[in-house]
Amino acid sequence: MRAERTTKMTMPNILKNLSLPLIGSPLFIISNPDLVLAQCKAGIVGSFPALNAREKEGQSLDEWLTRISTELDRHNQANPDNPAAPFAVNQIVHRSNARLERDVELCVKHKVPVWITSLGAQEWVYEAAHSVGAIVLHDVINDRFAHKAIEKGADGLIAVSAGAGGHAGALSPLALIQEIREWFDGPLFLSGAIAKGDSILAAQAMGADGGYAGSVFIATEEANADARYKEMIAESGADDIVYSNLFTGVWGNYLKPSIAAAGMDPENLERSDPSTMNFSENREKPKSWKEIWGSGQGIGAVKDVKPAAEVVARLKAEYDAAQTRLAQTLGWTRD
Ligand SMILES: Cc1cc2nc3c(=O)[nH]c(=O)nc-3n(C[C@H](O)[C@H](O)[C@H](O)COP(=O)(O)O)c2cc1C
Repeated sequence: MRAERTTKMTMPNILKNLSLPLIGSPLFIISNPDLVLAQCKAGIVGSFPALNAREKEGQSLDEWLTRISTELDRHNQANPDNPAAPFAVNQIVHRSNARLERDVELCVKHKVPVWITSLGAQEWVYEAAHSVGAIVLHDVINDRFAHKAIEKGADGLIAVSAGAGGHAGALSPLALIQEIREWFDGPLFLSGAIAKGDSILAAQAMGADGGYAGSVFIATEEANADARYKEMIAESGADDIVYSNLFTGVWGNYLKPSIAAAGMDPENLERSDPSTMNFSENREKPKSWKEIWGSGQGIGAVKDVKPAAEVVARLKAEYDAAQTRLAQTLGWTRD
């Protein structure tokens, strides 16, 4: 049964003044304060999974949040005409995440402006975010999960379609956005293979408010990733990606050359048992899987490793050019 169509919502103010309608998505291990700060200063939402602050290794989420907030405040004071975009923290809402409650408390304490929740949709997390005026975007791979998240109190959605890096869906972005937009008028971002400015415009043409991109930011100087991983992203294309559930119990997209380098045949991977899913801070992969690297299908657009600000500048130039091209093709006049 479908929920009733919601009334028209406008984009929350906090997401209105971006240089480009894009969220730099959270990347396990890879997103760190340097990358988030570079993304936000370049005018797109930067984000990281709370669990990336590996407390057992001496990192502290509290300190990460202090640093990001302080540096963005300083940037905004120095650049009142060119303020940074807000940042977001990703919470993995799963029973194996023993830090969830504590990490939610820290996000409340620091008044993190945008929250991204993955896996479970839980009311208490949304209530915690709303208690400090934050908005929550929940990521979903189908329309059923989208309904659940909105019914429980999420403010917006990230539609994770086929071709996305990490835990990807299996649905075409066209189908997924179309179904969600039948009943949901709130903030909606499209995830999956967005690595060019043209694709951000395409996401908007489909009905999304903007894009959500991860893999394109792995090949940046700031990303906390092995240099060989960054190079592999720059050298690979869509055909080098395989969809498998072997490595975490959840279906996701991975770089075939990294699987081959670990001694496995990427074309003949076994299926795994979803009950083995584990998102605790201490999750350990078998040793031979340590260097199996996730990526979406869009990386054909990534040719080299660059500072994140340059990646955002490229995406913005492509987005502007795509608008002009489209306007000419369709005979629109642009002012
Ligand atoms: C290496 C890697 C790690 C990821 N880790 C997370 C994560 O911790 N939390 C999360 O919500 N999404 C995670 N994702 C998914 C991304 O947030 C996003 O949905 C995806 O990267 C978008 O597709 P794209 O890579 O094709 O741009 C990860 C993706 C990749 C490639």
